Amino acid sequence: MSKKLRFAAIGAVAAIGLTACGGGGAGSGGGNDTANADPADLTIGVAMPTQTSERWIADGNNVKSQLEDAGYQVDLQYANDDIPTQQQQIDQMVTEGADLLIVAAIDGTALSSQLQAAADSNIPVISYDRLIRDTDNIDFYVTFDNFAVGQAQANALLVGLGLKTADGGEGTATGPFNIELFAGSLDDNNAFFFFNGAMDVLQPLIDDGTLVVPSGQTDIEQAATLRWQQETAQSRMETLLTGSYNNGTVLNGVLSPYDGISRGIITALQNAGYGPDLASTPKPLPVVTGQDAEIASVALINQGVQSSTIFKDTRNLAEQAVTAAKAFLEGDEPEANDTETYDNGNKVVPSYLLPVETVYKDDIQSVLVDSGYYTAAEVESGQAD
Ligand code: GAL
Repeated sequence: MSKKLRFAAIGAVAAIGLTACGGGGAGSGGGNDTANADPADLTIGVAMPTQTSERWIADGNNVKSQLEDAGYQVDLQYANDDIPTQQQQIDQMVTEGADLLIVAAIDGTALSSQLQAAADSNIPVISYDRLIRDTDNIDFYVTFDNFAVGQAQANALLVGLGLKTADGGEGTATGPFNIELFAGSLDDNNAFFFFNGAMDVLQPLIDDGTLVVPSGQTDIEQAATLRWQQETAQSRMETLLTGSYNNGTVLNGVLSPYDGISRGIITALQNAGYGPDLASTPKPLPVVTGQDAEIASVALINQGVQSSTIFKDTRNLAEQAVTAAKAFLEGDEPEANDTETYDNGNKVVPSYLLPVETVYKDDIQSVLVDSGYYTAAEVESGQAD
């Protein structure tokens, strides 16, 4: 297909999508005339995946408080990373007459019937951070530039290894370095964006021998971590160490897509005798990347144990979700800044993508403390107040 035609096709899909979701859009003549309602009479259902990860607690709190500041009622639910629980929570929000839904899915493909029910009741749906797949019944997507996250993680790995400088220049190291690759949960669309973004940077260096993956596990299926769980990552790291590093091979770096996974990896490495610094052990801790700037990992970065994380300011993500919610409820369409990237299998979903920032030890103060995301005391203790 020519570029022009392809573009036209995407446009057509987007137009169909908009028509299809027009029924869901508030004030569009559907059942819910929210445009003329007092916000205090409108309820927004917010479905979050889990409270075991600190980032989703921050997301839930930020979305709830910003919606409440805008005058809306909020029904915030966490689902313990259990798919039936999340399905049931969303079903209930629909039955109880929510006027709009904001959903961060556990499994991006498991909510079709819930979202059909939402569409049948003219309830607009905003997909939050994770794209909900295989349905026409989502109206908007707010997230970060997820491919850029993966590229940033890979670059942070190269910086940690000394192959690159933080400002993108050539590093002084030459390699070869031994690395292992971790990916997120395969039922989360983001996992593919992170891994593909990272491989976009790493593959050429694997191909030219600068980077070696001793386990040979370079496919996302091999690298995946179901539900992004720390324990699952720890156990895979242990298996990799036993399988590929028992002969004296030393691991130099690990691509990790999320701070919880990073902590599992670090625990496995420490248990296997990798130490915090070059002086004290023949096996210095490998460079380990991360994502989300969870406080426990920020503390590890501050101590020189984890190398980096990718900061995604959940305050800004919440703000975009609230802006989009207000637009729908007032009978408008929210403003997208990307209408091409996120095809959910049924349609290209209009999206608002936020930028991301890499945080090394030296950036903790300026990026995380000065912006009020954490206090210096939280960074020190590794616990959010
Ligand atoms: C992803 C999200 C990441 C990380 C991960 C595990 O969907 O984009 O930032 O939070 O889930 O929770």
